[in-house]
Amino acid sequence: MAKIGLIGGSGFYELKRELKTKLIETPFGTAEVALTKIGNKEVAFLPRHGKNHTIPPHLINYRANIYALYKLGVDRLISTSAVGSLLPAVPPGSLVLPEQFIDFTTGRPKSFFDGTFSITLHSGRTVGGVVHTDFSTPYCPDIRSTILTAGEKLQVPIHNAGVYICTDGPRFETPAEITAFKLLGATVVGMTSVTECVLARELGMCYATLCLVTNFAAGLQDRISIDEVFTIFKEKAFLMEAIIETTLASLSTSQDACKCNSYRI
Ligand code: HPA
Repeated sequence: MAKIGLIGGSGFYELKRELKTKLIETPFGTAEVALTKIGNKEVAFLPRHGKNHTIPPHLINYRANIYALYKLGVDRLISTSAVGSLLPAVPPGSLVLPEQFIDFTTGRPKSFFDGTFSITLHSGRTVGGVVHTDFSTPYCPDIRSTILTAGEKLQVPIHNAGVYICTDGPRFETPAEITAFKLLGATVVGMTSVTECVLARELGMCYATLCLVTNFAAGLQDRISIDEVFTIFKEKAFLMEAIIETTLASLSTSQDACKCNSYRI
């Protein structure tokens, strides 16, 4: 059983270590998860866009992915995400650890609780029917602070704040949308991680995402291309991996110290 899950975003498709790939059946479809050991921790790894970036953000089977990790025993989940920055002070190459989010996604399934689904969580509590999850603390403060400490240890600055606004994609935004998002208080824009955060909480898992700014958001630079996203990710992949590895070395597998209360769901 793996207590810790790791979801890799754009540019983070592999871990350079021995992996045992498993197909996990869920009520929402099949997910492919790789099991590995990082330091002394069993880790379940899932590249959200597929191994070769074949699944666009709006078509990712988020529910199958999160349910599969839950089924493997995951209580604590870290993801990496590529984002555009809305702030001139946070340029491409920066790392951001968001504290809040705004969900602008529309069409994708974003809850397990459709009225009929029920599940007994790792905490032993059975939840089901119509469930309204608390999001006063969307990202787990314990995972966030462990990531920040890892950044300090490695002397890699991490922007410790911010609001992640999530769009459907797969297109990038218009400058008018970015102007509106700025007025709403967004710091970074991405297309994926909020849906995972919501579903993880619904199944009682802690979640935090480490974002890499790959570009300035639309209107703050001439144009945006996915090549630029991949180039920055390639350049910074080793840093992300080092932070994740250092984080995992000291991250507790227990939810006892966490204040996001996911385990009380
Ligand atoms: N917008 C949305 N998602 C992104 C961006 C962006 O500018 N950059 C990387 N992922």
